[in-house]
Amino acid sequence: MNAIVTARNLSQVYEVKRGLFAKPLGLKAVKETSFSVEEGETLAIVGESGCGKSTLARILTMIEEPTEGELEIDGKVIAAGRTGDVKSLRSTVQIVFQNPYGALNPRQKVGAIIEEPLKINSNLSRAERREKVKALLAEVGLRPEHYDRYPHMFSGGQRQRIAIARALILDPKILVLDEPVSALDVSIQAAVLNLLADLQDRLNLTYVFISHDLSVVKHVADRVLVMYLGRPVEIAPKEALYGEPKHPYTRALLSATPATNPDERGERIRLTGELPSPFDPPPGCSFNPRCPYANDRCRAERPLLKRHGASEVACFAVDEGRI
Ligand SMILES: Nc1ncnc2c1ncn2[C@@H]1O[C@H](COP(=O)(O)OP(=O)(O)O)[C@@H](O)[C@H]1O
Ligand code: SF4
Ligand SMILES: [Mg+2]
Repeated sequence: MNAIVTARNLSQVYEVKRGLFAKPLGLKAVKETSFSVEEGETLAIVGESGCGKSTLARILTMIEEPTEGELEIDGKVIAAGRTGDVKSLRSTVQIVFQNPYGALNPRQKVGAIIEEPLKINSNLSRAERREKVKALLAEVGLRPEHYDRYPHMFSGGQRQRIAIARALILDPKILVLDEPVSALDVSIQAAVLNLLADLQDRLNLTYVFISHDLSVVKHVADRVLVMYLGRPVEIAPKEALYGEPKHPYTRALLSATPATNPDERGERIRLTGELPSPFDPPPGCSFNPRCPYANDRCRAERPLLKRHGASEVACFAVDEGRI
């Protein structure tokens, strides 16, 4: 297999103003994060709200430049501070956002919305563009006559199909899907997930699928990356992650998701306590205030991702065979 995306040591720091005269504080939303995505696979990124998923999505799609680190996409390297290949890669990686209501301009017709990237990035004639958009409408399960309608005439699920069509118009290789079904009724979620699966097969797409919901991820992922406070804590093939979760945080997330609770292999872990403030993360392992296995080492040192079977896990208790 071939990695089509490689993230090396990515970090993103936001300067957050706190009052008129106070010095802005640095908030590290993503920290020294490394992973890769194989061509044609779906890598899911999961974690609680605020753990840095959308920040990572914006870095991967080059909407934001990382403070540190390097990204390799389709063989081209983009390092922090350099914008070298960004322009040529923009069409290679596209994003679909969570909110199908906010993402579409209400004053533009659907055809114009989908066509817009083509106007800027191709030399196709007006008629050719129209043809291409109509073909794509059919591909995402909409009808050619929808071309001349406005977004408000569509349901949430249909709007997400429009957003998907827009993301596909430049023939990307990679789609970053940031909570693509989280805003939709449960009854519609499955249809949109099926569409995404079909499109992936037909167009040979690579997906980075972001979600806070492990029961959704179970249907779509090949591999799963679990994030906690800006860092990956476990990366594993789907079967290993759901069948034999290793990191205490992964286990806690699974215990909290009834549809995925494994057959009580190992203990159930309940997530207690609040997510710590990202301005003031705990020293050592950032999960230690909520972890039933935390000891003095966990409060002083930070565990690195290490390989355990098919999984990579950042946890001293796993390294030491304590759990
Ligand atoms: N533009 C920004 N400016 C300041 N802080 C931000 C910005 N974007 C995100 N954050 C903060 O970074 C952290 C991660 O946010 P985000 O990536 O949106 O997480 P998620 O998508 O997992 O919910 C949060 O603490 C959030 O408040
Ligand atoms: S390193 Fe320690 S605190 Fe962190 S998850 Fe493992 S046992 Fe818990
Ligand atoms: Mg988000």
